Order: sequence, then structure tokens, then C-alpha cells
Amino acid sequence: MSSEVVFDFDYLTRLEDSSRKLEASPQERFEMMLKAQREVDTYLEQLNLDHPMGWVIPPNETQVQSDLGQDKLVQLGPGQVQLGPGQAQSGPGQAQSGPGQAQSGPGQAQSGPGQAQSGPGQAQSGPGQALLDQEPHETEPLPIPEHGIGIDKVLRDFSRIGDQMEREGHPGHMAYVPGNSTAPAAIGDFLAASFNPYSLNVASCRRAVKMQQVIVQWVGRLFGYPDTCAGNLTSGGTVATMVAMATARDKKVPSSQDYHRCVLYVSELTHDGVAKCLSTLGMREAVVRKVPVDDRYRMDVNLLRKFIENDVQSNLLPFLVVATTGTTDVGSVDPVPAIRAVATQYNMWLHVDACYGGFFVLCNSAKHLFEGVETADSIAVDPHKGLYAPFGTGLVLVRNGASLRDSNTRHHGSYMQDQRTNPEDWNPEDLTFEQSAHFRAPRVWLPLQLYGVATFRDALQEKLELAKYLYLRLKCQPHIQVAEPVLSTVLFRIPGASDNINRSLLEEISADGRFFVSTTTVKGTLYLRACIFCYRTHRQHLDVFINKVKKAIVKMELEWEFCYAG
Ligand SMILES: Cc1ncc(COP(=O)(O)O)c(C=O)c1O
Repeated sequence: MSSEVVFDFDYLTRLEDSSRKLEASPQERFEMMLKAQREVDTYLEQLNLDHPMGWVIPPNETQVQSDLGQDKLVQLGPGQVQLGPGQAQSGPGQAQSGPGQAQSGPGQAQSGPGQAQSGPGQAQSGPGQALLDQEPHETEPLPIPEHGIGIDKVLRDFSRIGDQMEREGHPGHMAYVPGNSTAPAAIGDFLAASFNPYSLNVASCRRAVKMQQVIVQWVGRLFGYPDTCAGNLTSGGTVATMVAMATARDKKVPSSQDYHRCVLYVSELTHDGVAKCLSTLGMREAVVRKVPVDDRYRMDVNLLRKFIENDVQSNLLPFLVVATTGTTDVGSVDPVPAIRAVATQYNMWLHVDACYGGFFVLCNSAKHLFEGVETADSIAVDPHKGLYAPFGTGLVLVRNGASLRDSNTRHHGSYMQDQRTNPEDWNPEDLTFEQSAHFRAPRVWLPLQLYGVATFRDALQEKLELAKYLYLRLKCQPHIQVAEPVLSTVLFRIPGASDNINRSLLEEISADGRFFVSTTTVKGTLYLRACIFCYRTHRQHLDVFINKVKKAIVKMELEWEFCYAG
């Protein structure tokens, strides 16, 4: 019996017509992009102190203008400033805001209490008001439709994200490690997604692989690594750390039978992603030793050595120590040379977590902090922090590239058997556990080409200077204890006050949504923490911030007395 195959050509034509929509003509593409660009512009215009960040309840009465006013600066020498206590006079060009910053200029949207404010695609009618008015379902993105809807509606819905997020890139965002992204990075992403090469294999796209290698080798050289290092762009610092830790495990741990004996040493300020990586790597039963930090918040190397000696005596297997050059909480830098010496003595892998602090190595004033990093076995660093790339851009480096390759090269599937690569070509897919991955290189490469390294160096150096500036200005305020920053993170608190009172200070400072700082608890003490990292944050914003802190303290003092009296 033969079955007759009937082919429906009309049906196929209908499917073809429908699927051709995905090809988008140049005109369609151009119009879509133009409209998207307008939404982006509308959003970017809101990244200034006139616009509170969407996550907080807006103020009743606060106006940035009324916040302006600051202590008088005393010139010490070229480029140095010190502040006279109790001086409250503005110097020229100090507390004033420039166009698009703390103060609205002509043509800029300005909103005051009760003033309606709206732009294309914006959902707010007053500062943050629409957020409060919204029905819960309105905060949900549109559900997935069976048939496509117009770009205008889609963009309107998308732009509402801006109403609800912390506004990464806002100059007042100083919580956690604020993310930033530049226009060229977005264009790099556009090109990456449009060309869409398979960028992890030389045979698929040599040039894409090379672009990535140019970045990896450049970063390696920044830290003093030899050309025999290898690495990869990853989705972030945690994944970069995991790739490095997998290599450490493969080099230092004889077999999975030993996992229960393995010991990982971190400091009490090491990012918690490190321990998470250990369990993702299947080493949940390994021991994690948290080494206390010294009075400069750096890993105490004497205690590290003692812990290791004890562990060796107990037949445990110290295999990995993680030093951090730029702790997230404090910005402190562990003494890498001393940790290296201990690691070498005990045949351990040394990994350096430079995710937050790493790119400060570009800055002359911070270079010395990275001494010894060139001796680490591996490094994780985040271009989505220090190079202002969009989230989703980490980088792992392994000093001896062959170790990274050994750890990740497995037999390729037979469907790949026709690929011809030279033995000297190192495919990124053999240097990580990822296979198909976003072509991340252009989001880093394109901004560096366009602006040059010097622009990034200056931006980062400015953040270091701003941290110093904030420190100096807070230091001469009464009722403020402030820690001298190592990098761009400043910790401060009301000394002698309870954690609750210090939390109230945080609430007071962030009440109108113009500034977003967080708290952290270090060695049992709660601090407010300002991480100055956004490239839009400049001195005039800190002047407003400092004034806000001063006002909050005055208010808190009254409440304090009330507390004591009560
Ligand atoms: C020191 C440090 N390590 C690791 C991480 C984690 O990096 P990511 O969020 O890119 O995974 C961070 C994030 O802030 C960090 O500051």
C-alpha cells in the first residue's frame, strides 16, 4: 500500500508570508529604532536629581534647589581641599548645578509638588505619583500575544520599566555597586545581536573570537599577566569566579573523593558569591573558612596561616584562597603578596576577586593597591562595573592559560566533527563551560575604541577623588564618624547611636528618592554605605548629598534628644 503525500502550497505560502515579518525591511528597522531611541532619550533625561528614583516614595515638600548650599572649602594646595567645620557658605561653582544636573535649566523638565509632568511613554504624572496610583496589574509587562502588536504600544509598555526600577546610572544611586551603561556599549550590543556571530569558536567567526581575545589580553596586561594567560568574557563576576574555581579544583583536588576534605579560605568580607560557586561546582561538602579582617578590613594573613596549619593537621586539604581587591562592603584591598606567599607554601590556588575594584588598576593613584595580583592563579573582574558595560559582562583570567583550557576542553559532539581549527587556535568555548553565548565583546570593545582608555581612566579616577571628597566633608561634620576610603566606597554613621538610629538616618537621606545608599554591617557595626561608581555622579551631586546628610543629622539630633528624654 502506498500512501499519497499531499502538499498544501497555499498553506506554505501563508506561513512564508507570516515568517517574513522577522526579516524587517531597512525602513521598518529604522522606524523601530528611531522610536526606541526616543524612549531611551526620555528615560535618560530623567537620570538627574530632579527625578527621584522610582523605587521610593516621593517627598512632600523637598526641592533640590533648597538643598543647595554647603560648607566652605578651604584651599590647601593645588587640587587639595579641606573643610572648615560649621561653615555654611557656598563658594562659586561649588553647590551650583549644571544643565541637566541638580537644577533644571531651560528646556528641561522640572517638576515641583503638584506639578504635572509627563513625556512620551512616561507613566508618571507627578514625581513618582503614578506609581502610588497604579493598580498592581499595571506594573506587569504585557503578556505574550498570539499576534503581534504595534511598536508604539510595545515601547510604551517597555518604558514603564523606568518608573519602577532603582535607576541604575542615576547620579544619586550609590547603593550596592551601581550599574551603568554607555551609549556606545548599547550600540555594540545592537551590532552584536544584529550580526549574531557564534563567537565562541574560531571556525564559526574568527574575527569575533579575536575581538574577545583582544579584550582578554588587554585586561590581562593591565594586571601584569603574561601573554600565556587565557580567559573569557562571562555573564558576570560570579560566573567568572566559578570558571576560575573549577580550574582551581581541577588543578588542586585529586578526585571527587576528596571534596569533603577540601577547604576554601575567604575573608569575612569576601563576596558571598564565592561560597555559592563552591556549591554549584558540586563541592557543597567542602569547608569554607572565613578569615577575620584586620582593622583596615583586610584579610588577616596571620590568622589565615593559623587556620591552614590547623586544617593540615586535621588531614584537611586547603586548596583555594580568595583575596579581594576591592571588597563590596568597604572597598578594602586584601594583602595579595602576603596571601600569595601562604598559598605557595601550602600548594594552594590563589584567586583574586577584582570584580568591583579591578578597573581602578587603570588609575595612577590606585595602581599600587593591585601589587601582587600578577602572581594570582586567576582573576575575576567585571567590565559591567568598571568599564561601564551593560549588566551581563564579567571576565575571567587564568594566569596559566593551559590550565583553563585543560579544565574546559571536552570531546565535541559529532555534529561538530567537520569543523577545522588549527591547534594553535584556542576557542573560547574551550575556556568556559558556556556554549552558545551572547557576543559580548562589542559592548566592551566599541566604547574603548570610541572613547579610548583615557576616558575610562579619568572617570574612575574622578570616582576615587569624589570618595575622598565625601570623606573629607563628612569628617568635619559633628556627629558623623566616617571611614577613610580605599577605593570609591565611603562608610559613615552616627557614632554612639544605635543601629536603629543609623537606619533612620538612611531613611531620612533617601526619603525623597534622589539618593539611594544602603547600609552594611561590618565587624558587628552598622554603617551607611555610599558607593560612588556611576559615571554621572559628580561633585555637585555630592554637595547636595552632603547637605542632605547634614540636615538629616540636625533633625535626628532633635529626635535623639527626644529618645533620651523618653
Ligand atoms: C567584590 C565582588 N565580587 C563579586 C561580585 C559579583 O559579581 P556579579 O554580580 O557580576 O556576579 C560583586 C558584585 O558586586 C563584587 O562586588
